[in-house]
Amino acid sequence: MDAAIRKLIVGNWKMNGLGGSLSEVSRLVELLAEKPVQADVVICPPATLIERAAAIALPAGIAVGGQDCHDAPAGAHTGDISAAMLADCGARYVIVGHSERRTNHGESDAIVAAKAGAAIAAGLIPIICVGETEPQRLAGNHLEVVSRQLRDSVPPAAADHDFLLAYEPVWAIGTGRTPTEPDVGAMHAEIRKGLRDRFATTGDRVPILYGGSVKPANAGSLLAIESVNGALVGGASLLANDFFAIISAS
Ligand code: PGA
Repeated sequence: MDAAIRKLIVGNWKMNGLGGSLSEVSRLVELLAEKPVQADVVICPPATLIERAAAIALPAGIAVGGQDCHDAPAGAHTGDISAAMLADCGARYVIVGHSERRTNHGESDAIVAAKAGAAIAAGLIPIICVGETEPQRLAGNHLEVVSRQLRDSVPPAAADHDFLLAYEPVWAIGTGRTPTEPDVGAMHAEIRKGLRDRFATTGDRVPILYGGSVKPANAGSLLAIESVNGALVGGASLLANDFFAIISAS
């Protein structure tokens, strides 16, 4: 079943990148033209670069996404960006509920669900992030924590719209540490079960990405895990050569 889901590799640039960094997008386009790959590719640059990145990426079949959106369609929210604004710049995806948003901006599951709903309403595909902290894993609560996040961060509107799940253990993000392959497999299986229970007709085909210290060196083994349908890549997506090595490993 999972094997039928096309792999998707998403690069999350976080708060990195100025105009000059677009040369990495151009380089990625070149690399993909030289050696076509099996996976679909998405780049999520900072909002300031979405439109310029899209101009380079979209003609080459690389999609572009935002890293966050507000849950309202418009209004008095200084500094925020709506899902429709992202779509207007050429984005097709948006990450919501990344652990850095949950931690740095106090975003609850309810806010994440509202943002995912806003993304769907604007025609975007939300990439909804979940993942346990290190104390939660050490206490053995990780499956329960992630199941609860899954239940509360995925909005009802997701029942008949495309969306993705990204499992990102908080302790693996930017640390160079990853869970064991059996641990990733067990968590993805739990997420798949939660999706099937909730969405009888679509739960089988929602892609579940793994994220957290995905690098060229470990991408092959992580992406080979049966229940892993792709990767959400932070640091290693900033340089086209590294990101391409990860994409090619799928
Ligand atoms: P990392 O980040 O690949 O740098 O660990 C992943 C993420 O936060 O999406």
